[in-house]
Amino acid sequence: MTESRTATDESVTLPEFVRSLPKAELHLHVEGTLEPELLVRLAERNDVDLPWSSVDEVRSAYDFVDLQSFLDVYYAGMAVLRTPDDYAELMTAYLDRAVADGVVRAEIFFDPQAHVERGVGFPGFMEGFRAAMADARRVHGITSELVLCVLRHLSGEDALATVEAAEPHLDGVVAIGLDSAEVDNPPERFVDAFARARELGLRAVAHAGEEGPPSFITGALDELGAERIDHGVRCLEDTDLVARLRRDRVPLTVCPLSNVALRVVDTLADHPLPRLLAEDLVVTINSDDPSYFGGYVGDNLVAVAETFDLDRDVLVELAANSITASFLEDDVKQIHLADLDARP
Ligand code: ADE
Ligand code: ZN
Repeated sequence: MTESRTATDESVTLPEFVRSLPKAELHLHVEGTLEPELLVRLAERNDVDLPWSSVDEVRSAYDFVDLQSFLDVYYAGMAVLRTPDDYAELMTAYLDRAVADGVVRAEIFFDPQAHVERGVGFPGFMEGFRAAMADARRVHGITSELVLCVLRHLSGEDALATVEAAEPHLDGVVAIGLDSAEVDNPPERFVDAFARARELGLRAVAHAGEEGPPSFITGALDELGAERIDHGVRCLEDTDLVARLRRDRVPLTVCPLSNVALRVVDTLADHPLPRLLAEDLVVTINSDDPSYFGGYVGDNLVAVAETFDLDRDVLVELAANSITASFLEDDVKQIHLADLDARP
């Protein structure tokens, strides 16, 4: 790649530079974009009882010690989502922020089981999501598709039944994913659900190696057919696995501010991002649950650039990786990569 002028032009601030990079967001839970203000407003509108009664009280619950302590708040918070309009409002708020961050493509996780168990069916949330995604495309040009995640704290049978129930509603869904509590929940239980989803034409991704061991990454690749690994930071504990990820160009959707908030690492300075880059892995930077973890994708990129004093060329490489690792058609990837190269 030829070096562009802004790659070295220090008169462009770091946040402006980050924003100027066309990028894809590949690890984003739409339920994790529920800002406290919207949460409280929807609770009032839908008459939902919450453990918190004000925006400040909601915010004060955001003090996590691990993934499970976060998931408890995350599942409680999403109980305010009831109607197609609620889901559309949530999605529109995220996509507006993504556009402001220079995101041109978003592959967006959602947790259908967590909505169905509260009595909201596929037609309800899918109608809201699709309307918002179509609007954002029309108004801003951003393209987005959904990743249907199955919850790993539930059974393999429940996951398979969820995929079967989703079949008539897959318009706008590009992939199956696996999320929720990782420890003690290895990927192998979900082989049937992933096999069925792949039969239905979906691509496959899976959370692995966030809190769980490297063997869960290997399991996600071998047993589930995962094409990207969400998080994956613990791969560094297994040199053979690192060699495999490098050789097969398996993308990792890394979420630095999430890893700090959930204490996967003590501080951002302890994050393994520099080692992942030094190992020549296909690293992308993402926000995971930005409302809960203190930053959207641009904030994550700025934070790692400042903490590790990254060259602007590295930021360009991270943006290029995100486009390459997306599930866009090759010709569309080429257009975004050319735009990335041609920045003023
Ligand atoms: N669901 C929402 N955020 C998650 C995360 N970081 N890990 C696993 N499941 C999640
Ligand atoms: Zn996640």
